[in-house]
Amino acid sequence: MENPFRVGLKHVLHVEPCVVVIFGVTGDLAHRKLIPALYNLSVDALLPAHFSLIGFARREFSNETFRTGIHDSVSKFSRRRPLNDSVWNEFSSRSFYVQGAFDDPAAYLNLKKLLDDIDAQSGVLCNRVFYFATAPEYFATIATQLDKAGLLAPRSEKARSRVIIEKPFGNDLPSARALNAELSEVLEEDQIYRIDHYLGKETVQNLLVFRFANGIFEPIWNHKYISHVEISVCESIGVENRAGYFDKAGILRDIVQNHVFQLLSLVALEPPVAFEADAVRDEKVKVLRSVRRFQKGEVGKKVIRGRYQSGTVAGKEVAGYLAENGVDPESTTDTYVALELAIDNWRWAGVPFYLRAGKRLPKRVTDISIFFRNVPYRLFQEEDVSRVVPNVLSFQIQPDEGIALKISAKPPGPQVQVQPVNMNFSYGSSFGIEPPEAYERLLLDCMRGDATLFTRSDEIEQAWDVLAPVIEAWSDRSARALPVFGYDAGTWGPQASEELLVSGTGSGWRRL
Ligand code: BG6
Repeated sequence: MENPFRVGLKHVLHVEPCVVVIFGVTGDLAHRKLIPALYNLSVDALLPAHFSLIGFARREFSNETFRTGIHDSVSKFSRRRPLNDSVWNEFSSRSFYVQGAFDDPAAYLNLKKLLDDIDAQSGVLCNRVFYFATAPEYFATIATQLDKAGLLAPRSEKARSRVIIEKPFGNDLPSARALNAELSEVLEEDQIYRIDHYLGKETVQNLLVFRFANGIFEPIWNHKYISHVEISVCESIGVENRAGYFDKAGILRDIVQNHVFQLLSLVALEPPVAFEADAVRDEKVKVLRSVRRFQKGEVGKKVIRGRYQSGTVAGKEVAGYLAENGVDPESTTDTYVALELAIDNWRWAGVPFYLRAGKRLPKRVTDISIFFRNVPYRLFQEEDVSRVVPNVLSFQIQPDEGIALKISAKPPGPQVQVQPVNMNFSYGSSFGIEPPEAYERLLLDCMRGDATLFTRSDEIEQAWDVLAPVIEAWSDRSARALPVFGYDAGTWGPQASEELLVSGTGSGWRRL
């Protein structure tokens, strides 16, 4: 019998003809995520008719060597393995390579010629998606060169050019503003798709469905019923081979400014007037505008900076951050951060939001837990007080995607006792299919011209603005500098982070 939860998953999306051009196609992101995602879309027959892929990078490749390279990437990283030969052959025959430096006008003319040839062969004007999977210092250069080659202007009512920009989008408020300004000289805002792959995760999108397609939760989604909220993005991996980037960024810029703030916005936003790009993003921006800015001297109390030391993760001894390859031995970079935020608006007045992100924690888990206020009166007086615990609604974003509601129940027996139990919903067992990769959804949305799950310029700037006092306080390297608390790899972060929670809520972080 067909799984009844799967009925309704099958509606077909219409996508206009499109060419995706990936700048920096020889890099890790393209290799591990983007090309496998495009292949997976073609397995599901979700790519448009007349789809083509063009890789653009500095290395000398022929189309043939490029195709062999992407075959290896897909064979290794696609979730749809082994490869389907006929899908692969079609995909590969539609893949091309353009060699060039990002600032070389001649390379862009070659690109333009190839794009025009593809249109001529297809007999239609294809949409064009330019994906900037490069180091951020090239973003403005590529946009300017594309403009000079005439590749950004609309070619008809339907045939549009769009660009997808990877993170990091700036490394503080002034640099993000400068990048937005540079891009806006050659692109309209509705052509710019700033990607945050967390928004492509099924469970993240489900937050909106959960809140606005169920009548029972929204009436209690406010300060009257919710005591506090915890958002955790925990990873067991360390800095890996990315020290060059990470040591300059730290986890605050790498994960909090984007992924964690996206989760915060979706939990806290007001109902949008429509499920459309600007309506949803307007509400997200309002949340970030309402986040109370840290005053001078507050950062040390409300923000905990941590760094992993050597320790054991999943039974393996691992090095401390300062001993990792490529890390400055004098580094003060954060590999862990916990912070307490207040949202100054009608709905959330007085409800603290605790956010944390860290590397080299005991396991990989992303979770949002909403803690409800306890019952007003203890009817079961005889009961051990520690057992009458508040309800907690938790969204496990990954892994084991699902939603759980902790409620109190009476265990069987002659006495009236109270025991916390969980009501669980699990994606895996309910829908019986593996959720697609975030990049599949986001690439498809961009090809369709739907920017709902992409970040707008004002959203990015508000997020940086919230963190500006932290960045400033942490840049102080004098004797008065705020501490970087050590924690052993494989533990849940510095003790100071636990104390932050205890002082605000009476208990530590929820055990994940
Ligand atoms: C990236 C960060 O944006 O997200 C990485 O740069 C991090 O440092 C990664 O490891 C986590 O993504 P996910 O999807 O594995 O939670």
